[in-house]
Amino acid sequence: MQGKLRIKAVYVVVLIGALLAIFLIFRLWTGNVKEPASFGFGKTATASEIAAVDFDIRPDGKGLPAGSGTADTGRLIYIAKCASCHGENGKEVKGIKLPGPPLVTGTAKSKAKTIGNYWPYATTLFDYLKRTMPYNAPGSLTDNEVYSLTAYLLSANKVIKENAIINAQSLPNVVMPAKKLFVIDDRKGGNEVK
Ligand code: HEC
Repeated sequence: MQGKLRIKAVYVVVLIGALLAIFLIFRLWTGNVKEPASFGFGKTATASEIAAVDFDIRPDGKGLPAGSGTADTGRLIYIAKCASCHGENGKEVKGIKLPGPPLVTGTAKSKAKTIGNYWPYATTLFDYLKRTMPYNAPGSLTDNEVYSLTAYLLSANKVIKENAIINAQSLPNVVMPAKKLFVIDDRKGGNEVK
């Protein structure tokens, strides 16, 4: 009995010693490595560069700017600035891999996730387009252009009427077909499956 206890005590001492050693090495290591003042690339973002991405548009429309647009105008902008990557009408084309994902819900057989069958909030479209598209020139669209493109894509997905005017008041009221497919994640941890 006593022998076993002594062996255990030795283990504990060795363990504490090892932990102390690791801690000391870590302290010395982090203490000696100094961050360089500059990595020699990049530049400080200007106030206008920050302002271009410093916005967020919520599901209830909070954050939407002034301006408005319709699908007619949006379709023209789409042809000029988006069709090269997303296709002529934004639909999935069988056998062709376009540079951008499909944006318009196609046939019932198509499994592609699009704005029309997957996005829960219409306002996200405004936020996403203003922030990221066109892919090769993000941030270049005016607010009116974004409203028009939003109207065009919602209309092409048959979520709104062709002549609907989309602005800060009307966009949050658009109910997306996929909204009902989402459930609030109220899991408290553990293995519950939703
Ligand atoms: C140079 C190619 C290119 C151009 C031009 C372009 N896009 Fe995209 N777009 C992409 C790519 C690539 C993605 C996927 C990005 C990702 O998943 O991170 C994308 C994603 C999107 C999405 C998200 C789709 C989804 O369901 O996830 C939307 C909406 C969209 N683009 C709209 C537009 C609109 C509107 C324009 C015109 C103003 C445009 N895009 C121009 C390449 C492009």
